[in-house]
Amino acid sequence: MPLGTAVGGAANYLVATATMVYAQRLSRSVQDPPVDLRGPGVVVFAVGLAGNFYHHCLLSRLRADGGGSKGYKIPRGGLFGLVACPNYLFEIVGLFGVAMIAQTVYALAYATGAAAYLAGRSCATRRWYQSKFDEFPARIKALVPYVL
Ligand SMILES: NC(=O)c1ccc[n+]([C@@H]2O[C@H](COP(=O)([O-])OP(=O)(O)OC[C@H]3O[C@@H](n4cnc5c(N)ncnc54)[C@H](OP(=O)(O)O)[C@@H]3O)[C@@H](O)[C@H]2O)c1
Repeated sequence: MPLGTAVGGAANYLVATATMVYAQRLSRSVQDPPVDLRGPGVVVFAVGLAGNFYHHCLLSRLRADGGGSKGYKIPRGGLFGLVACPNYLFEIVGLFGVAMIAQTVYALAYATGAAAYLAGRSCATRRWYQSKFDEFPARIKALVPYVL
């Protein structure tokens, strides 16, 4: 990933984290939600993080020749047999885990916005695979297995 993209992405997460903490602070005087989702939220976040990491490992192996090749292949393994962008799917799972831990409308809105953005990107990625690879299986959806 180019350094500029990495810095932009890191800045996005930094601002999101800071504003979520601030939203948490603003909601201190509000009554606690009737159901505490922090425990399940940590589990959902961990699943999202692990799934995102695993699919990035599979992607990194596509260029394991070490020659700095920029070639693209159809990824295989994990959920790549069902969707074009499982790394985005697990990113979204992780963000909803954060929303469950925070239990603020702001964190939920952030997760929903990111999900909509990543859904658009994954649809564009699927269309790109279809245009570049004649053998790209039609059963592979963009983001959500069997659905989208
Ligand atoms: N929260 C958000 O709104 C948000 C938004 C965007 C990204 N993200 C996070 O950042 C991560 C990275 O985003 P991204 O858009 O760069 O993901 P990506 O397009 O899936 O690319 C990830 C890496 O895999 C390589 N790659 C992808 N498909 C390949 C293929 N078919 N053959 C060979 N190499 C391939 C890419 O190389 P190239 O760079 O050469 O294409 C890149 O180095 C995401 O998984 C997500 O966790 C979050």
